[in-house]
Parts: sequence; C-alpha cells; structure tokens
Amino acid sequence: MAQLWGGRFTKETDQMVYQFNASIEFDKRLYRQDITGSMAHVTMLGRQGILTEEEAEKIRGELTHILAEMDAGDLEPTEQYEDIHSFIEATLIERLGDTGKKLHTGRSRNDQVALDLRMYIREEVRQADALLYDLLNELLKIMKNHLDTVMPGFTHLQKAQPVTLAHHMGAYFEMFKRDRQRMRDIYERMNYCPLGSGALAGTTYPLDRDFTAKVLGFYGPTLNSMDGVSDRDYIIEYLSALSMIMMHLSRFCEEIIIWNSNEYQFVEIDDSYSTGSSIMPQKKNPDIAELVRGKTGRVYGALVSMLTALKGLPLAYNKDLQEDKEFTFDASDTVKQCLALFSGMLATMKFNKERMRLSAEGGFTNATDAADYLVNHGMPFRDAHGIVGRLVLYCLEKQISIGQMTLEELKSISPVFEEDVFEAVSMEACVGRRLTVGAPGRDAMLRAIETEEAYLEEAAFPEYKMEI
Ligand code: ARG
Repeated sequence: MAQLWGGRFTKETDQMVYQFNASIEFDKRLYRQDITGSMAHVTMLGRQGILTEEEAEKIRGELTHILAEMDAGDLEPTEQYEDIHSFIEATLIERLGDTGKKLHTGRSRNDQVALDLRMYIREEVRQADALLYDLLNELLKIMKNHLDTVMPGFTHLQKAQPVTLAHHMGAYFEMFKRDRQRMRDIYERMNYCPLGSGALAGTTYPLDRDFTAKVLGFYGPTLNSMDGVSDRDYIIEYLSALSMIMMHLSRFCEEIIIWNSNEYQFVEIDDSYSTGSSIMPQKKNPDIAELVRGKTGRVYGALVSMLTALKGLPLAYNKDLQEDKEFTFDASDTVKQCLALFSGMLATMKFNKERMRLSAEGGFTNATDAADYLVNHGMPFRDAHGIVGRLVLYCLEKQISIGQMTLEELKSISPVFEEDVFEAVSMEACVGRRLTVGAPGRDAMLRAIETEEAYLEEAAFPEYKMEI
C-alpha cells in the first residue's frame, strides 16, 4: 500500500478495507486526463506565483515524461496504489522529491477526479457523436439507393400500407439524428471545469480558474465549488442518451433479425457478420444483431445504477461517487462497439427488393388505397372501408391479391370500380401518392434527403482544443 494520507492514523488499513476502497483497477484509464489536468494546474500555480516558475516547469516536465512513458506502456499503475491520482503523484514525488510534493497545492482529489472524469466523458461524447455520424451516412446511402424499393410498412407486425426501404431507413435516420443532437446538448451543458473547487469549498490560494478552464478546452469554470465536486448530472445525461441509442439499435436489430429469417428473406446479413451453428450445418445466425439487442440491458443497468448511486447523496463529495466509473466505462465501451459493428453490418447487408415487393403486394397493403379510390368516386369512407373489407375476404378465399381480381369480380362487390382501379392500387401509385412532408412518396423522400444531407454537412460536433 502506498497512500497519500496517513498522518492522523495510528493503525494500518485493513487489507480487505484497502481493496474495497481502492479504485485503481478501473480508474487507471483516466491517466491521460489526470496528467493533463495536473499540467494545467501546475502551470497555473507557477503563473500565479503560488509555486516558483522553476518548480512549475520542473513538475510539468516530469509529468510530460510520465505521460509519454504510460502511453508507451513503459510505466504501469500497480495495485499498490489506491487510485490513479495517487499513483501519478507518488511517481512524481519519487522522481522529483520535495518539488513533486508541491503539485497538489490548492487541489483536492475531489476536484481532481471530477475534472478527470469530465474530460474523459467529454471525449467519449465526441466519439459517440462521430460513430453516430458514420451510421447516419450509411443510412443515407441506403435511402438514396432505395427510393423506389417498395416494401410493406407494418403496424402490430401486420402488413399495413406500402412504404419504401428509403422511408423505413429514414425513420431510423431521425432516431439516430436525435441521438446525435443529444450528444451535442450534453456537451454544451457539461463543458465547464470543476478544477479549483478544492475538496468542496474552493481554496485559500489565489487560483486562476479561468486560466485552467481555458487551457483544458472548457467554456469556463463551474460556478459553485460544492456542485463542482459532486455534480454527476452529465453522466446521467450521457447514460440516458446511450440507453436511447441502444434502444434504437435494439429495435433496428430486432427488425433485421426478422427480415433475415427464412420466412421473410428481406435481407441477407453478410457472411462476415454472421455465425454458424456447431450442430446444424445449414445455419447462418444473426448473432451480431442479437448481441447488440442483448447488450441493451447492461447500458440501461448503468443508467439505473448511477441514478440510484446519486439519490440521497448529501453535498458535497461522498465516496459513493466512486461508483460513477465502472458502469459508465462499460456502457460507453459497449455502445461505441455496438455502433461500429452495427454500421458495418448495415453496410454489408443485402436487401432483397423482389421479396420485399412481393410481400407488400401479397399483404393487402393497398387496401386503404382501394378504399380511398371509392371515396374519390363519391362514397363515404366508412362505406368504402366495409366494401374493401369484403373485397379482402374474397381475395383471401381465392388466395389472390386485390390487383389480381378481374374488373367483373370487383364490380360484383361495388359497381363504382372501373378499369383505372388497377393503376390506382398498384404499389407504385400507393407509395407515389403519399407526398406530404415525411411521407414515403419519391418527391417527399427526396426533399427529406436534401434536408438530412444539409444537416450532415453543417452539424459538426464542437471542437474543443486543449492548449497544454
Ligand atoms: N477514487 C476516488 C473517486 O473515484 C477519488 C476521489 C477520492 N477522494 C476522497 N476524498 N476520497 O471518487
């Protein structure tokens, strides 16, 4: 055990207590943020005359070495240290002696860890944004290629009305676009620097918090030191946004699994994204889609854990807050992996246009349009609905589609039908007439695609620059 405290203790920490309390096993991944934060802090201490410029320079130089060594894998944190902050500070002191001991002037591990985690999550938010951007581009590509690919649209998983594959993909585009907007919102709210909040009540040293905030790429310092050390709202927001991404991916995966089934055959997942069975030679399973769907639970779990950990916490720092890391890291890793894999699976997936079209035709998806035809010839909608219901029943008995009926058959159910009904209930006409904003008709989709393209070009994630 090598720890940063002990002066007021007369006994060694119990070994089990030490292990229970330690966080190095999982917070070691914050080493970059920790060192960068320390570099900003010590530079500020030098500028403010709290340390001499020489001392600050010396510490800064050694921190640079430590960072390089850790990046290269030449220096590794060990279990001997309680957390990453202790490890780095102890390493510095080992190398610089008394000068190293001055780094922690005007700082607490409470504002230090608050800073480290915020910087880490800020980068995760940026990476999630970039992965969502890639997925949106993939979706847009499919949308452009399938403006005329007719497929059944479903309600209750029953064929409802014909749509196009472009339109179906467009629905997911909207979802992931909102997910991306959420990343940006989170960033805007979270990008304030808690460093300088001290343990809870600021410090008595003349710290320049504006300076450290600026060089670390934040909009400015947080405005209340108690909130600064104990706020984890941004983590909840992030986990909530991640949960939403997983929910969207999971819905999408569920559809892909159904579409990839032998019964549907709307799509074929590429061999490179499928797996086989150890016993059934014919099998090609959609494991990746299933795993993404399955991993949704652990991300929701992280959100609920975090909400629960924070509930009832008195101000300011409490050790409960250490529980903010493991689940969050796991959730973030999981979502990034799922997004990357999902985009790859989508990009390599084959869409079976013919099957989709046949499925739309065979499922009476044009029944509403047949009723609309009668309405356009002066019949009240409720009556038209009843007549087409009888029509469907007739077709079901004969095992044909509405388009396969003869005009005589149609007329025997309602004399209003004329030769032009066949054109009116064709898949092309059914989709093509739906031209209101947001509808699947070609021109409506083209307008939507134009808007989405402009969005993709304009809505870049804010660049944060660290000048340290
Ligand atoms: N490992 C701790 C955490 O993750 C670091 C902060 C410790 N501060 C303290 N006063 N014990 O929250």
